[in-house]
Amino acid sequence: MIDIKIVKDKKEVAEEAFKVMKPYLQPGKVLGLATGSSPLGIYELMIKDHKENGTSYKDILTFNLDEYVGLPITHRESYYRFMHDNLFNYIDIPEENIHVPSGIGEDLDAQCEAYEKMLDEHPVDIQLLGLGSDGHIGFNEPGTPFDQGTHVGDLTESTIRDNQRFFNDLGETTPTRACTMGPASIMKSKKILLVAYGANKAEAVKGMLEGPVTEDCPASILQRHADVTVILDEEAASLLTK
Ligand code: GLP
Repeated sequence: MIDIKIVKDKKEVAEEAFKVMKPYLQPGKVLGLATGSSPLGIYELMIKDHKENGTSYKDILTFNLDEYVGLPITHRESYYRFMHDNLFNYIDIPEENIHVPSGIGEDLDAQCEAYEKMLDEHPVDIQLLGLGSDGHIGFNEPGTPFDQGTHVGDLTESTIRDNQRFFNDLGETTPTRACTMGPASIMKSKKILLVAYGANKAEAVKGMLEGPVTEDCPASILQRHADVTVILDEEAASLLTK
């Protein structure tokens, strides 16, 4: 079941999403977190809530969706660093409660398998998701089998292009592979919260909500989940017909 909320702009997307997150910000909960610009407004509200209301993350676990292959955690564009710069450094979460897949190692497949095992041991209560302009969730690109767990995947040309802006000014090549929770890992979460804003997401939003459930549009798998909330701004919702 997908509950769709359409609001005016990205600020309201973050406010509505935070309302959905808030009941999960308590001891014992497991949060599935995402990178990209879409969740940033939510993270700002989580930091504000921590500061103003003393909401504590001491007994909360987090699992991030993905990480680029080849980037050390110290790299400015690593998702590990992104999460620290935009959330973890401003709340009281202990480092050992934080989980981000590693894109560095001798045997990435074994690392992905171990990550999936941790997810099974600590089932995610709420998984936050953004949406790629090609319909990807996490780094599950079109064509990723729905039954895949955490794995190493190739990024599509369009995703590499979307990400180039982050690496160009560093004079570096954009990563072409990522370790990511798979569609099957994401579907194990008890609740899913997806946020998207802006006209460049409209096509993917339409595919996700109104298209057939197909591996060509990874996000369409969410139609099969029992408890999904999708929060969109007017532009991202502009191609919806229903
Ligand atoms: C990357 C991330 C996704 C994210 C997507 C959209 O590909 N791996 O998890 O949803 O970008 O990013 P943005 O929110 O910046 O539009």
